[in-house]
Amino acid sequence: GKYRVVSTKSMPGTRWINLLIEQDCRVEICTQKKTILSVEDIIALIGDKCDGVIGQLTEDWGETLFAALSRAGGKAFSNMAVGYNNVDVNAANKHGVAVGNTPGVLTETTAELAASLSLAAARRIVESDQFMRAGLYDGWLPHLFVGNLLKGQTVGVIGAGRIGSAYARMMIIYFSQFLFVVIIACFVIAAYGEFLKANGEQPVTWKRAASMDEVLREADLISLHPILDKTTYHLINKESLATMKKEAILINCSRGPVVDEVALVEHLKQNPMFRVGLDVFEDEPYMKPGLADMKNAVVVPHIASASKWTREGMATLAALNVLGNIKGYPVWGDPNRVEPFFNENAPPPA
Ligand code: GLV
Ligand code: GLV
Repeated sequence: GKYRVVSTKSMPGTRWINLLIEQDCRVEICTQKKTILSVEDIIALIGDKCDGVIGQLTEDWGETLFAALSRAGGKAFSNMAVGYNNVDVNAANKHGVAVGNTPGVLTETTAELAASLSLAAARRIVESDQFMRAGLYDGWLPHLFVGNLLKGQTVGVIGAGRIGSAYARMMIIYFSQFLFVVIIACFVIAAYGEFLKANGEQPVTWKRAASMDEVLREADLISLHPILDKTTYHLINKESLATMKKEAILINCSRGPVVDEVALVEHLKQNPMFRVGLDVFEDEPYMKPGLADMKNAVVVPHIASASKWTREGMATLAALNVLGNIKGYPVWGDPNRVEPFFNENAPPPA
């Protein structure tokens, strides 16, 4: 191959590898056993000549790595993720490296996990499973694992972009009212109302919330789908948790630092009927002290995009991003061009 492309991890499927090989690339996949590569590990992988890198969300793609990639003649990097809070896009651009991400292919898969966590938290599925396996079930009881009925309740979607909108569309069968907060850069868009009919049932209200506070106060279940940047860091903190209903459910499939996890643990301790479903954590792969002991928390290891179809799609898009930049084709995912799904006049997702 004329071009050397490095992938910091083995990725699902073979399509992404074949695409690169067919286009004159030699593909090198890191075989290191450790899960998270350090900056030094990646500098060693880049070596003296490297045209492009496919990297992972666990890696710190900042000044040091983009300088190293640029010195090796590289001009393309793709994150195998839609989120790119681990990538310093300005540093990349400064070193003449184009950056891509993998939006689109993970929208439905991620929304399905948020929906799964919503139901699991509401109906205490994981707690019940642990109870069964521990051999504690000794007969049906009226009080056994009583949870929340979602039907007819209000859901709040904070960050109504591609994934948040897909989640809302999936949950329409349960809820009678949707409150959206669209987070675009650092402001929240206000005042929006519309009715939709779901299967001839009660009309569903889609409402652009006047404020984050309105969502926090009124929703019975809140799902978080914003990007992580300095405007959304600890968006959910001690105060916002205190504003939520005592028996509300909070779902986070975005990025850990969107929630102040220490405050969350304290809130879960104080409010046993408050439940949470978490796919992401502030100090991944670690959980803040006490979280693992909370029965009112469902926790999974950042698997929201983990369907076979999606992971192969992400790998393919990442390869196309790198290839496109090496060859000068247009690329699919370019964080500089990511636009929110919603605009002022767009109808609610249907
Ligand atoms: C996964 O978390 C992603 O951003 O794709
Ligand atoms: C419960 O199993 C019922 O029959 O109500």
